[in-house]
Amino acid sequence: MVGRFDERFIEEIKGRLRPSDVIGKTVKLRKQGREYVGLSPFNKEKTPSFFVNDEKGQFFDFSSGKTGDIITFLQETERLSFAEAVEKLAAEAGLALPAADPRGAEVEKKRQGLADWLELAAQWFEAELKRPVGRDARAYLEKRGLPEKEWARFRLGFSPSGRTALKDYLVTKGARPAELVEAGLLIAPEDGGAPYDRFRDRIIFPILDARGRVVSFGGRAMDPNARAKYLNGPETVVFHKGNNLYGLSEARKILAAAPTGDEPPLVVVEGYMDVIACQRAGIPSVAPMGTALTEEQMEVLWRHHPEPTLCFDGDRAGRQAAGRAIDRALPLLKPGKSFKFALVEGGKDPDDVLREQGPAALKSQLEKTTPFAEALFVRERDLEPLDTPERRTALKVRLRKLAATIADPDLAQAYKEDLLGRFEQLWPTQQPVYTVGAAGRELSRHRWAKKGALAGASPETKQAAQDLKASPRPLAAALAVAALHDPSLIDNSIELVGARGFGDERLDAIAQALVQIRYETDEAEFDGVVRRLRSRGVSQELIAKLERDARRAGVSAPFLDATAARDRVRALWSQAFELLMKLEALERAVASAVGDMARDPSAAAALINLKAERDHLRKLVNSDWAGEAHDKPVLPH
Ligand code: UTP
Ligand code: MN
Repeated sequence: MVGRFDERFIEEIKGRLRPSDVIGKTVKLRKQGREYVGLSPFNKEKTPSFFVNDEKGQFFDFSSGKTGDIITFLQETERLSFAEAVEKLAAEAGLALPAADPRGAEVEKKRQGLADWLELAAQWFEAELKRPVGRDARAYLEKRGLPEKEWARFRLGFSPSGRTALKDYLVTKGARPAELVEAGLLIAPEDGGAPYDRFRDRIIFPILDARGRVVSFGGRAMDPNARAKYLNGPETVVFHKGNNLYGLSEARKILAAAPTGDEPPLVVVEGYMDVIACQRAGIPSVAPMGTALTEEQMEVLWRHHPEPTLCFDGDRAGRQAAGRAIDRALPLLKPGKSFKFALVEGGKDPDDVLREQGPAALKSQLEKTTPFAEALFVRERDLEPLDTPERRTALKVRLRKLAATIADPDLAQAYKEDLLGRFEQLWPTQQPVYTVGAAGRELSRHRWAKKGALAGASPETKQAAQDLKASPRPLAAALAVAALHDPSLIDNSIELVGARGFGDERLDAIAQALVQIRYETDEAEFDGVVRRLRSRGVSQELIAKLERDARRAGVSAPFLDATAARDRVRALWSQAFELLMKLEALERAVASAVGDMARDPSAAAALINLKAERDHLRKLVNSDWAGEAHDKPVLPH
């Protein structure tokens, strides 16, 4: 599907639609200068910090750091896939979708025919479960803790034991046996005999595609001596085991229903019953069908979640399975797209945990996750003792080679640094805070692959550099100085830094230069960064002045402490940056409320509140704040 729309078609859609119209349908927007402003659709907030800019064709959300175009907006707010978002917008723009190729049309027609029989079969299985013939099946489900009120949601059913019960029913409805073989419902014997029902005397789990259409079935034997515990439908025109995931359509519903601001996980488990257990506990969850995750399935997962959680048993077999998943996923990781790992304790699966310990216990086990890079590092570290230089060096070489298998060059580089940083930390030495390189540069969590989205150095850049002679806010200066010494500090917020600088336009030239450095090069040495800035019109004196301004930030810039640990510096920097962004949004809101008041005196009360909030933040930024924002609430409630 992804390749179906070319660049020109996408541009045509964007050219016809104004972002403020598209977004304005779901977010109440108010015009403010050249932009529109409203309450963030991603977080609950009282003060608007969500901006839409029609000229740039982008939205910026300060509360979450999200930014993007109208397609991303629909993907993020309505949980649509890229293709679905494009289809929806094309309709809005009055554009016909590009014609699918004729072979595709034929497959589509066939698919439609089979889909109807699959749906009818699902309804029949559901009905059989409730008839007298389904008595043992009902008892089995109850015994497994799946009461009748849950059956409809998962469309559970029962296939009775007759050889042709389903076949007879569908044939009376007008089906040809050959079609039913093609749909995977019947098995055609090799000797040319009459086709018979594939699923007999089994609990039926319908397999739905992403949109909730029945594409196949899984069947569980109730008899512990049955030849196969689970039987799955075969590959058909409508069902490819390798790119379907059991439970996906229901998982999407749970994701879409999650309150904004609450980012649920997307958990990949092993079995049908595990998916059902998770979803009953409110956890969006899917499973492959008895096979390891394929590349296609990973791409499907990433369309619905940036970092799905892969869940395995905590025993040795589970750990090995996790190890294999690491190897398959590693080359495919992309900026902003990864996996987390969760292990279920005590040799149990999620279904056991739900039944024995309840939904809260299941949730909490699935929330204890390990990031991908760490799981990879720990696996390699624990492979053999590291008691000789040969073994230690072998580990280092393995880490370097593994990082190099990542196809995305930026991420491969970041992984190399992360893994080697973890390696160095096995034998820690003192690290001065401003050196960059091996030591633990964190994997950038955000998508910084949109190269070329930024303007190059311009006359305004030079002007902004001149303006630096006036003093920016000390905290803004301090953020900029820290980033000059370690440009990777901006990685987590790179899009916002690109769009808004450091909340002070006098620092925009430096902000733009830093963003370009992070996109285009891997320059990490202070001297190199300064050289690049100079070529963009930022002089050495200006930088010296900036350093003096930064020093005035005092305790409000704890990330300048040269003795602090790198991770802490990074966290403190991000907190301070977020604070400053919030302040900037508030200052704009106050300014625009002042404008409103001229027209509407009743806006005064709102203005007073806004001002109080702004003043509080200003005080934090100017003095009190010491980087413990996660302990003390920063914003008054
Ligand atoms: P498990 O054997 O872990 O079973 O298979 P389970 O999901 O815990 O099932 P219950 O709890 O005993 O009912 C995990 C998944 O592997 C596939 C199925 O998709 C199953 O859900 N599988 C398993 C098969 O395809 N065939 C089998 O014979 C067994
Ligand atoms: Mn199980």
